[in-house]
Amino acid sequence: MTAHRQALLFPELAKSNSALKPVNVASVPKRSPFRYPGGKTWFVPTFRLWLSTMYPKPRILVEPFAGGGIISLTALFENLVQKAVMVEMDEDMSAVWESVVNGDSGWLAKKILGFELTRESLLGELKKTPKTIRERAFQTILKNRTYHGGILAEGSGLLKHGENGKGILSRWYPNTIANRFISLSQIAMKIDFRRADGLDVMRDFSNRRDAIFFIDPPYTAGGKKAGKRLYKHYLLDHERLFSVCEKLKGDFLMTYDNADEVKTLARKHGFQMRLLTSA
Ligand SMILES: C[S@@+](CC[C@H](N)C(=O)[O-])C[C@H]1O[C@@H](n2cnc3c(N)ncnc32)[C@H](O)[C@@H]1O
Repeated sequence: MTAHRQALLFPELAKSNSALKPVNVASVPKRSPFRYPGGKTWFVPTFRLWLSTMYPKPRILVEPFAGGGIISLTALFENLVQKAVMVEMDEDMSAVWESVVNGDSGWLAKKILGFELTRESLLGELKKTPKTIRERAFQTILKNRTYHGGILAEGSGLLKHGENGKGILSRWYPNTIANRFISLSQIAMKIDFRRADGLDVMRDFSNRRDAIFFIDPPYTAGGKKAGKRLYKHYLLDHERLFSVCEKLKGDFLMTYDNADEVKTLARKHGFQMRLLTSA
């Protein structure tokens, strides 16, 4: 794969002869404290490959739709860039990233380890009105780990059965999650987190040749209803996103669903496309 400007599409059911082979994600370190719908752990090997072809090496990675942030975290832990600009609109998700940047990873780790998760304790905790960003962050982690599919959007609810009928406990691994926060404190100073519109931040960096962009927007597939089910912020002006991309001086890589609307936009703006299967 070359380091040219690329729009990447990945359909759920790509035909094997027209798609790149799915990658083995078992080797990818799980760095994100989230289990996030649309999470891109499976994309990490392709991302590394893309970066390995670049010369000179980029200094900054901009991730305008950060979500669980696995791509930025990988880039920082593996010293692929010096700084990651992570952008997210969701207030709950943002509270977690803000806490990490504010130096509250240790506090979160301690809260997670000290929390005895039962249905009652969970409902009691989620009923509280958070007074600080880190309290909100703790609630977000609890919801992310006990709601169906990690989905925080309205309409989501507590896991009923989960893995092995363990219900809300099935995705609650306090040691693992706490350790991820402890690790995050090592790279927190390299994260520039912004609760903002990703498109605005892309424009702020559009003239920088030492910046690259990993763009993973809420998709178009399944229409608005599907997007609404996964994210609180699911509406996006896709045409505008493509126009902003066209003006970027640095390279970018964008993942999208294999929808006609997207392919038409990619062709119109002269972007290369590759078909990938998610692992
Ligand atoms: C497909 S998910 C990103 C998943 C992420 N790559 C991961 O690995 O977890 C898209 C994210 O964009 C966020 N979002 C939607 N519109 C946004 C906007 N205009 N600016 C910033 N974030 C936005 C959503 O809240 C959601 O978290």
